[in-house]
Amino acid sequence: MAKTLYLETFGCQMNVLDSELVLGQLRGQGYVATDDRDTADVVIFNTCSVREHAEQKVWSRLGQLRDRKAADPNFVLGVIGCMAEREGAEIFKRNPHIDILCGPAELDKLPGMVQNAVTTAGGRNVISDRRHVALMGNSVRRSSTLQVARDDLEMLDLSRAVSPGDDLSQAYVRITRGCNKFCTYCVVPHTRGPEVHRPPQNIIDEVRKLVDAGAKEVTLLGQTINHYAFDHSDGRRTTFADLLYAVHEATPDLPRLRFVTSFPRDFSDEALDAMRDCERICRYLHAPAQHGNNRLLKLMNRGYSIEQYREFVDRARERMPDIAIVSDFIVGFPTETDEEFEQCCDIVRYAKFKQSFIFKYSPRPGTVAIDRFEDDIPEDVKRARNNRLLAVQGEVIAENNAALVGQTIEVMVEGESKLVSRRAKATGVELGAGFGGTARSSGPEETVDTQLVGRTRGDQIVVFDGDLSLKGGLVNVAIDRASQMTLFGRRVAEAAVV
Ligand code: 5AD
Ligand code: SF4
Repeated sequence: MAKTLYLETFGCQMNVLDSELVLGQLRGQGYVATDDRDTADVVIFNTCSVREHAEQKVWSRLGQLRDRKAADPNFVLGVIGCMAEREGAEIFKRNPHIDILCGPAELDKLPGMVQNAVTTAGGRNVISDRRHVALMGNSVRRSSTLQVARDDLEMLDLSRAVSPGDDLSQAYVRITRGCNKFCTYCVVPHTRGPEVHRPPQNIIDEVRKLVDAGAKEVTLLGQTINHYAFDHSDGRRTTFADLLYAVHEATPDLPRLRFVTSFPRDFSDEALDAMRDCERICRYLHAPAQHGNNRLLKLMNRGYSIEQYREFVDRARERMPDIAIVSDFIVGFPTETDEEFEQCCDIVRYAKFKQSFIFKYSPRPGTVAIDRFEDDIPEDVKRARNNRLLAVQGEVIAENNAALVGQTIEVMVEGESKLVSRRAKATGVELGAGFGGTARSSGPEETVDTQLVGRTRGDQIVVFDGDLSLKGGLVNVAIDRASQMTLFGRRVAEAAVV
């Protein structure tokens, strides 16, 4: 009988992609994915170390599986991703029931490690037992063997197999891996290693393969994606702008191309021009500001001032007035005063962010910040600042959305609106009111399966009436009203302006 695999993913899109590639490789070995962790032959956690909270979730999962391993030594347990890299073999001391440990740069070797663990599982449960398999290596590679890392990276990404029936509604393609920025709070350069850029032709081929298999939207991934530059052996250089033009040109049948995450300082005019000129590149930029105050930006080692960030926003908006810019913020960084924090609110208003992801500072082992600065902002102050910034961002969203009412917007149809139908089924009452608009009543038996949901090029959620056969296509929707989370409208024939 086929062996079953339970793979749970924590963290960023990069991890989602790694999991997809790992799953593809293990499927190739005959494994079948299951949602049932308790009966799976192999359980793998693809982990995130960015904040302590993300790690705690994994520690608790690992604790829950201790008894299972004791009762069934043949069951195989793996930890992959950033926690594996950060903790290293230390993890076996607290958790001797783990069989496999594999850092993000070694994932191409995971199938062999799983095979090895399956054949040797059931061995003695002690640290020195040879059944433990661990592969990490980013820190070594930072200085010496970058070429090896580059080749390994390609092995994993090139292994991608697209099967019929795969959900390609959100297809990811990596263009860079790792990060060289060393922001003082961040573990990523330590866990994912140095920045490595993929050859442009491999990226183009992979996007092409996904589009041929039916992908309607492809998101290019990189930790600091706009820093991409590939130096060819003949001395030519492919810049990020060149790559955008090339992918866009090679896939005229791809309705939408996106990319995340951008580093504000590295945005060239050429890359912004490429976004403006290529009509199927979404006008969406995730370019985290992280803070609004220059002293804090310096302590964070972000490498730009808030004036430079504003200038970047201006350059983007000059070319694309409708561009949706999204930010991340860290609040409660050591020594942050109330006044300094307030400047985060100022930049949210100035940049009119479409959305902000706001995090309370979490000291991470191995980073400069944990060594150099005391985590001196009390938890309740962090929480209050987090809530205040969320509220300001909420006001900005309301203003941004109100400005869209009356506009006709291009929407990619994703399917039936779960939000609306779930609410209708659960409450059987007024649908509209909770969304900040005109009320519409719906009895418990009334079906609402004609409510569709889709997203704009700026990643706004739009709900409108339509036929499910529109799924995967582009339609134009006139926006009638808006709530904080959602725009509501109706399909129209006229051309979209946004
Ligand atoms: N504490 C809190 N937030 C963090 N981030 C990264 N490291 C930390 C940390 N130590 C946030 C940053 C980054 C996002 C992915 O996570 O805002 O952009
Ligand atoms: Fe972390 Fe800074 Fe690199 Fe982003 S740019 S991954 S925050 S070190």
